[in-house]
Amino acid sequence: MLLLYSALIIVWACKTGTYAKTSVSKALSSSYAPVYVECPSEFQWLRPAIGLNPKEANWVAGRKSVVVDALSTYLRQLELEDFAVSEYITAIKENDYAHVPIMGYSISGGGWASAFTGIGGMRALDSRLDAANEQKTGGLLQCLTYMAGISGGSWPIMSIALNDFPTVDELVQSWHVDINRENATTDTKYAASPTTLFEELATKAKAGFNVSIADYLGRALAYEFIPGANGGLAATFTDVASQSKFQSHDMPFPIIHMVEIDEDDVEYFGLQLPSSNSKIYDMTAFEFGAWQGIGLFSPMEYLGTAMDNGSPINESACVRGFDRASFIIGSAEDAFNAWTIQTDSNGTLAGFAKRSHRAAGSQMLSTSEPSMSKRASPPTAALQGIVEAFNETFGLNISSITYAIYPNPFAGISSVTPPSAQKPLLRLVDGSETGQADPLWGQIQPARGSNFIITWDDNEDQIPYNWNNGTNVYDTYLAAKAASIPFPIIPTSNTFNSRGYNVRPVFFGCDPVLTTTKSADSPIVLYFGNAPYSAYTNYSYAQAATSPSQLSDILVNSFNQITQGNGTLAADWPICLGCAAIDRSLPRVGMQRTAQCEACMAKYCWDGTEDNATAQIVDPSLLLQPNLTFAEWIKTHDFQED
Ligand SMILES: *[C@@H]1O[C@H](CO)[C@@H](O)[C@H](O)[C@H]1NC(C)=O
Ligand SMILES: *[C@@H]1O[C@H](CO)[C@@H](O)[C@H](O)[C@H]1NC(C)=O
Ligand SMILES: *[C@@H]1O[C@H](CO)[C@@H](O)[C@H](O)[C@H]1NC(C)=O
Ligand SMILES: *[C@@H]1O[C@H](CO)[C@@H](O)[C@H](O)[C@H]1NC(C)=O
Ligand SMILES: *[C@@H]1O[C@H](CO)[C@@H](O)[C@H](O)[C@H]1NC(C)=O
Ligand SMILES: *[C@@H]1O[C@H](CO)[C@@H](O)[C@H](O)[C@H]1NC(C)=O
Ligand SMILES: *[C@@H]1O[C@H](CO)[C@@H](O)[C@H](O)[C@H]1NC(C)=O
Ligand SMILES: *[C@@H]1O[C@H](CO)[C@@H](O)[C@H](O)[C@H]1NC(C)=O
Ligand SMILES: *[C@@H]1O[C@H](CO)[C@@H](O)[C@H](O)[C@H]1NC(C)=O
Ligand SMILES: *[C@@H]1O[C@H](CO)[C@@H](O)[C@H](O)[C@H]1NC(C)=O
Ligand SMILES: *[C@@H]1O[C@H](CO)[C@@H](O)[C@H](O)[C@H]1NC(C)=O
Repeated sequence: MLLLYSALIIVWACKTGTYAKTSVSKALSSSYAPVYVECPSEFQWLRPAIGLNPKEANWVAGRKSVVVDALSTYLRQLELEDFAVSEYITAIKENDYAHVPIMGYSISGGGWASAFTGIGGMRALDSRLDAANEQKTGGLLQCLTYMAGISGGSWPIMSIALNDFPTVDELVQSWHVDINRENATTDTKYAASPTTLFEELATKAKAGFNVSIADYLGRALAYEFIPGANGGLAATFTDVASQSKFQSHDMPFPIIHMVEIDEDDVEYFGLQLPSSNSKIYDMTAFEFGAWQGIGLFSPMEYLGTAMDNGSPINESACVRGFDRASFIIGSAEDAFNAWTIQTDSNGTLAGFAKRSHRAAGSQMLSTSEPSMSKRASPPTAALQGIVEAFNETFGLNISSITYAIYPNPFAGISSVTPPSAQKPLLRLVDGSETGQADPLWGQIQPARGSNFIITWDDNEDQIPYNWNNGTNVYDTYLAAKAASIPFPIIPTSNTFNSRGYNVRPVFFGCDPVLTTTKSADSPIVLYFGNAPYSAYTNYSYAQAATSPSQLSDILVNSFNQITQGNGTLAADWPICLGCAAIDRSLPRVGMQRTAQCEACMAKYCWDGTEDNATAQIVDPSLLLQPNLTFAEWIKTHDFQED
């Protein structure tokens, strides 16, 4: 009797659950407004940032069995010398897959530049692309557990996840990159006019939520990156978890970062900039929170719910659909504070592409370098009218609309410091603004146990020609050191430039001694700074329309970078990539680096010596065609210069 009764309750519970779900998703597909629902009872609203979220832990466990098979195929394809693939595979499977290496990929901030060059890098690692398998780089993508994005780098990460992990060639077809994302005047299937975007925002405002530039950017970008009717109107970050390839553990797990503006952060022209030790929010399909600073996570699904001291303020007013994928990528990209300050100061403050390395804890400050490259001008002009439109439509001024506004799940919790952080609303901005434009912070948390991370850096910090010099990874090293998080020691940008790490691949942290904790707990980090191999890919991060032919040049360039020109620049490279990928797992299963891999590490690992030679202007020519200058090349290739 008792059994029957509990079975009935379960059936009933499932039914209500399904009913609620259908009506919520219906509501979300008809309007951008989040919806209010009855709060679930017996719900865990907060969890301390200790270990993984149980749902993530469970997912990662499932991913490991898929990775093992992918790794077996990938390693066999490499034909490593004196390496017993089957012995290794058997060994990493032991103790419930305990030693399967955790690997990841990250795409830096850098607008449409990092979005396209970064996804090009993933393409070259995909076993579904024959050319990648021919070069023996194909298949590593299938071995990754995590993928992370910041700012422009968050767009392809969210896009590939919500499109159910298609190939990159399929994915970029859906983006319609040639449509100018800043000046659509009429509505089409692939772009919406500002009027329509404001109408979408108005539904959210009417429902009682703050709206900002982040919503506007997000809705505009969604027509490019988020699948589904009306510019992916309905899609939420939570929806990633219901993608079939997510459920079958056939895609890496996406992570997106943003940072918080605190009350006492520095202010210029009425707008604030985050300090370099600002709280870094870690967002996944399962949860929202911060490992350091807050030390708590809250479920992504109910993000937007007004909370106090760990419970909803009104049990009948829980919120669903605040975590719109569009809003997440728009918030991730929202650097309107930095763009405005940079413009208002005539480029002397908040140089968005000019972050200099500095001690952790200091503010992101100006550099006095005058030669701000034209390519790196912020898109403020394009957004000027937006400020007026927010004034006219919503009666809001610039300081109210600059930051992405999130109801604070950690409001009123006395353990959160400083007390100002217990406020009801969070103001979030582009994670690049702290000087850590490479989204490594989430992957290097000890709970995630990363062993190998590929960092695609295209935040264009090397002025004046928009190349990259490693400064942002150096900043992560400083922050990791300050927080005692295992991470490779990273040299300064002088060393990147003088050693050529700005144009060719390098591994950091191979020798555990060269890490913040002098231990093998640190991942090995592979750094790729976007560089010209077969095409000049230093176009502006703010370039809002890209021709198909330029996109093709970009994808081929990234392919050439990942494969080192199909081996023409370094025939040993694909082998060495594989050696580094599994290196951390070898001692754990009692195996040793082979002589072949030893030679690889000697060649591609940073040996710990700085080379602080005076910085030269970084003005590389094509690595695969050194005699083809930019001036010559541009005559026959698409490249917008102003
Ligand atoms: C909008 O963008 C397209 C494509 O880049 C360009 O041809 C057109 O001139 C732009 N229109 C306006 C009004 O800026
Ligand atoms: C709680 O939320 C419900 C549903 O939105 C609303 O009708 C009610 O007025 C709210 N109660 C309070 C005290 O705000
Ligand atoms: C920026 O340049 C404009 C035009 O030259 C000038 O009016 C303005 O005062 C400058 N602003 C700052 C902060 O230097
Ligand atoms: C690297 O880029 C940063 C940020 O733009 C800059 O401050 C620094 O001077 C650059 N380093 C070198 C060696 O040019
Ligand atoms: C903008 O609006 C907010 C909220 O109404 C107000 O507190 C603030 O003083 C205003 N800022 C300016 C610069 O007018
Ligand atoms: C909106 O613009 C008008 C005209 O410039 C100005 O008087 C008003 O203060 C602005 N409102 C806000 C909220 O900034
Ligand atoms: C957010 O909305 C609330 C309620 O309408 C308002 O009081 C507050 O000023 C808004 N905050 C910002 C930063 O716009
Ligand atoms: C390498 O192979 C790719 C894919 O076939 C091709 O697009 C690219 O041009 C090749 N690069 C070189 C340097 O041959
Ligand atoms: C190079 O510069 C870094 C950072 O300023 C410093 O820590 C290091 O000691 C320098 N190395 C040499 C060899 O001068
Ligand atoms: C792109 O890079 C090349 C090589 O450094 C340089 O000649 C060219 O001026 C750069 N273009 C832009 C827009 O920065
Ligand atoms: C560039 O170099 C290649 C060989 O590396 C040569 O075949 C070609 O003729 C050269 N082109 C020019 C314009 O000098």
